[in-house]
Order: sequence, then C-alpha cells, then structure tokens
Amino acid sequence: MLIDAFARKITYLRISVTDRCNERCAYCLPKDGVSWMDEKELMSPDEIVRLAEAAIGLGITKVRLTGGEPLVRPDILEIISRIAIIPGLKDLSLTTNGMLLKKMAKSLVEAGLHRVNISLDTLDPEKYRKVTRLGNFEQTWQGILEAEKAGLHPIKINTVVVGGFNDNEIIPIAKLSLDHPWHIRFIELMPVANQEDWGAGLPPVEERYFSSQRMHELLSSLNLEEVPSPDYSGPERTYRIPDGVGTVGFISPLGDHFCMKCNRLRLTADGCLKSCLLVDKEISIRDALRSGADLTSFLINAVANKPIGHELSSHNCPDSRCMSQIGG
Ligand code: 5AD
Ligand code: SF4
Repeated sequence: MLIDAFARKITYLRISVTDRCNERCAYCLPKDGVSWMDEKELMSPDEIVRLAEAAIGLGITKVRLTGGEPLVRPDILEIISRIAIIPGLKDLSLTTNGMLLKKMAKSLVEAGLHRVNISLDTLDPEKYRKVTRLGNFEQTWQGILEAEKAGLHPIKINTVVVGGFNDNEIIPIAKLSLDHPWHIRFIELMPVANQEDWGAGLPPVEERYFSSQRMHELLSSLNLEEVPSPDYSGPERTYRIPDGVGTVGFISPLGDHFCMKCNRLRLTADGCLKSCLLVDKEISIRDALRSGADLTSFLINAVANKPIGHELSSHNCPDSRCMSQIGG
C-alpha cells in the first residue's frame, strides 16, 4: 500500500496519454495551442502498461486515463485493453471532451473501459464553441448519449463554472440529473497556467472565479439533499434533486479539506510522476521506464514527497505546465 507522509492512502493513478487535444478550452490551453510534445517524448503503450502494473502491484486500485484528449491517441484501445486485465485493478475510467465518443463508445466498452467523465460547460452551442474554440456541442451531446447507451456507467459530467460565462446555466445543467442517471459535478476554476489571455468574449480574469458556495446558493431553489458521495475517498460533496435519478456534486479545489482527502498520483504523457496537480514539483521516470529499471522506488518516492496541499491561497500557482499537459 502506498501511504504518504500525512497518512493519506494513495489508491488512484491518473495517466495522461497525450497532451494533444481536438479542443482548446480557454481555461486549459492557449488559443493557438502549445507546441505539442514530440512523439518520441510520449510514453509507448508498453511503458504505460509497465508503470500501471508497478502501481497496481503497490496497491493502486483505480486508474483514469486523461489527456489532453485521450481519444485522439491512435493506440488508445490497445492501452485500455492491456490495463483492463491487470490483476488488482478495480476501476478503469477515462476523462474526455466527448467529441469522439459517438464513434468510439462501443469499442471503448469492448476494450474493457468501465466508465467516462465528460466535460460539458454549457448547453448553448454558441457558448460551447466559444469556450472550447474547436468543439461542437451537438457532437459532444450525441457522444454523451452514445456513452450512456454503450454502458459506460455511471456517466459523470464535469462542468467548470466560470463567473460571467456559465454561472447562469448551473440550474439547467443541474436539472439534467432529474431525467438522466448522470453525476453532474460543478468544478471551481483552478488558476493553473493560461489564465490570463482568454480572448474576446470571455470574462476578464477578475470575474472568473466562482466558489462552490455561490453555486450552492444559486441552486437553492432546487432543494438539494445531501447523499453519500458515490466515490467515498474522492474530494466531491454530493447531492440529489428530490426525485432526480442522477446526482449533483461540487468539487472545490480551493475550498477546505480538499487536499487532506487526496488519494491521487499522476503520470504525465512525457513520463513524469506528479504527486500534486497544483504544485509544479515532478520526477521524470521516462529513462527508468525505457531502461527497464524497477519502478517501485520511484513510485514510493513520489508518494513520500507528496506535498500536504496546494498553496493557491498564498497565490502560489503552478505555471510550468498548462492543464492539458498534466491531465486535469
Ligand atoms: N480549472 C478547473 N478544471 C479544469 N479542467 C481543465 N482546466 C481546468 C481549470 N483551469 C478540467 C476540464 C475537464 C478536465 C480534463 O479538467 O473541464 O473536465
Ligand atoms: Fe482539451 Fe479538456 Fe483541455 Fe478542453 S479542457 S482543451 S477538452 S484537454
């Protein structure tokens, strides 16, 4: 079992398989993109699987594949099918923007994927285009429906709430949980790199942060009832609209107690272990992966050095990578 210096059990590994993306969300990527990692820098399926095996051998039970957009990686089905059969793994999921789900949901299930989290910040096609720059609402919406049909349950919808942009949509988005068995999760915007120049039509920097407490107040007319979190060890607080079939949750990285519940370790697409999303420190294990060295000591070391928490409240914001280079 991987346990850090603050007695947190680390059971959840997020593996970013690519930094590339077919969208350019304003809070995640600069509008002209970044220079993508070279193909040679990206980990191969063999390297990813070797790391996953070592981590699962040390007590990781939950693996999530992220990007960029993991579905743009041509060998994603191979990666999934090889991780899915590692003994000891209990949960294999993937975070996607949904653009390729209509086409791929069925093959993802066949490869052994259990479920997906889909990013959806707005129900308005024009706003969807504005925030994602390259995305198409209808295509993503069809992707969500296809994922549901294919059985990638429970479907989680991630909505990053940006003040002055989509705070006026949180009621209709929460209401999706009335008729759909989805977990809608409202996420506070995190000040990770690329928070300055978002371009025309998007709110100025000082208006963007919108606390989950304010989200909660805005949803008061829905009479949310608290329910046990579907993911007991996760950082989310979960509610239900009376008679709703799905749930509504809040993820407050800037709020209290978030870090003390953290059970995560991350691997970037270029082979760096990061023990905290919001702290720049990382250890490169690519050479070790490529030389066939034992990975156990790297994993133990990364966990042992996991920081107690982020320092956003003292304006110490990570800026070495933008979100698409970490994997959210
Ligand atoms: N703050 C909060 N969430 C973010 N994501 C990307 N960038 C940010 C940010 N700055 C989320 C996306 C998606 C996941 C990949 O990470 O909305 O759900
Ligand atoms: Fe791509 Fe997700 Fe970043 Fe949007 S948030 S640009 S979909 S990686």
